[in-house]
Amino acid sequence: MKIGIVGLGVVGLATGVVLAEQGHKIIGVDIDQNKVKGLECKRSPIYEPGLQEMLERYFHNFTFTTDYGLLSNTDLVFITVSTPTIDGKIYLGYVFDVAKRLRDVLKRNDAIVVIKSTVVPGTARKVKEIVKNDVVSNPEFLREGSAILDTKNPDRIVIGSENKEAGDLVENLWKFTNAPVIRATWEEAEMIKYAANSFLAVKISFINEIANVCEKLKDCDVTVIAKAIGMDKRISPYFLNAGIGWGGSCFPKDTQAIVSFARDLGEELKIVEAAIKVNNERIKRVVSMLKGFIKEGNVCVLGVAFKPNTDDTRESVALKLIKTLKSEGYKVVAYDPKAITNEAKMVGLDECIRIADVVIIATEWDEFKGLEEKLRGKFVIDGRRILDPSKMEKEKFKAVGLGE
Ligand code: UGA
Repeated sequence: MKIGIVGLGVVGLATGVVLAEQGHKIIGVDIDQNKVKGLECKRSPIYEPGLQEMLERYFHNFTFTTDYGLLSNTDLVFITVSTPTIDGKIYLGYVFDVAKRLRDVLKRNDAIVVIKSTVVPGTARKVKEIVKNDVVSNPEFLREGSAILDTKNPDRIVIGSENKEAGDLVENLWKFTNAPVIRATWEEAEMIKYAANSFLAVKISFINEIANVCEKLKDCDVTVIAKAIGMDKRISPYFLNAGIGWGGSCFPKDTQAIVSFARDLGEELKIVEAAIKVNNERIKRVVSMLKGFIKEGNVCVLGVAFKPNTDDTRESVALKLIKTLKSEGYKVVAYDPKAITNEAKMVGLDECIRIADVVIIATEWDEFKGLEEKLRGKFVIDGRRILDPSKMEKEKFKAVGLGE
């Protein structure tokens, strides 16, 4: 098929390379000229495992452009633009702008418009009013850092459609993944995405609160609690890693968006609101751990990206931590294998540790596992629970969820 993808962020690019691998012709559209220019030279604008290689391998199936006109004879167009939260509410302007552009270019074409961007219930219905073509809601569940793997091996495919044939066509497109398919209405498909992200955010905040209690207990480690409760199939072991909080371009904005969306409908999402509140308090706790070691001095923050295997720093808790530390008067140096920031002086790993009075692990990159020996002599705070406490110097080590 000839497939358009509008919005070349992580979702658009992962969708594009995976479908290009399946032999489809992909027309990738973005308003960012620099991004398009880079992609035309086979340069991925972001770091995501496997993306650069896939882009090069299937480049013959790609056209990158800023020109919507090239979408005029496509079979299907994915909308994968961002849906930021502004003043606590979802901003759908980019989605509707794309819909209006598509209405103009798809005039004599019955291409199906597929919404992959995360949008509140009711959006597909509005997009349909604008474009008039068939609209399918096909929410994306990929995680950054494993975007391609997740796109090829999703836990499920959700297809929300009004027109059965349009839904069938999109279902067929993803058949190669062998994932179970949930057919739904537009509103159900849109709600599934928010319920999934909110639930995961709640799960992390839950274990983070249990971690708070563990810290007050003698000989109590939250990782042992998480391991044991995770063995209960009803709970599952995933997303039970206590840490300095959840960040990234999805959980923070999506939890806020669904809370305000529900409020507008006269409903309170009390549990999601509590999860946000718990998350907002994470940094304060790390800072108070730090103050238990030193009141001023040099801090090395290991990890700047919002999670490992990405260079994305959007809503990164590590970055918020750096800003807070600076405002408290600490001197901050940082190291990350892929991400960069202007908020702190970025140095090499060894240099970062050497300069530091205190080292804080803020992102759980593999590279930081097994650092125990190198950290000898330093005060250390493990914010992501990747170090082995038994190998650390007791009086110089603190960790999220680790009791006295
Ligand atoms: C999240 C969802 O996991 C995806 O299913 C969804 O498609 C995506 O949002 C989206 O809406 O586009 P992502 O933001 O890429 O994916 O990253 P996650 O792996 O979910 O991590 C989010 C945050 O939670 C990170 O800051 C991570 O460090 C934190 N986290 C995750 C924990 O603190 N503990 C955990 O156990 C897991």
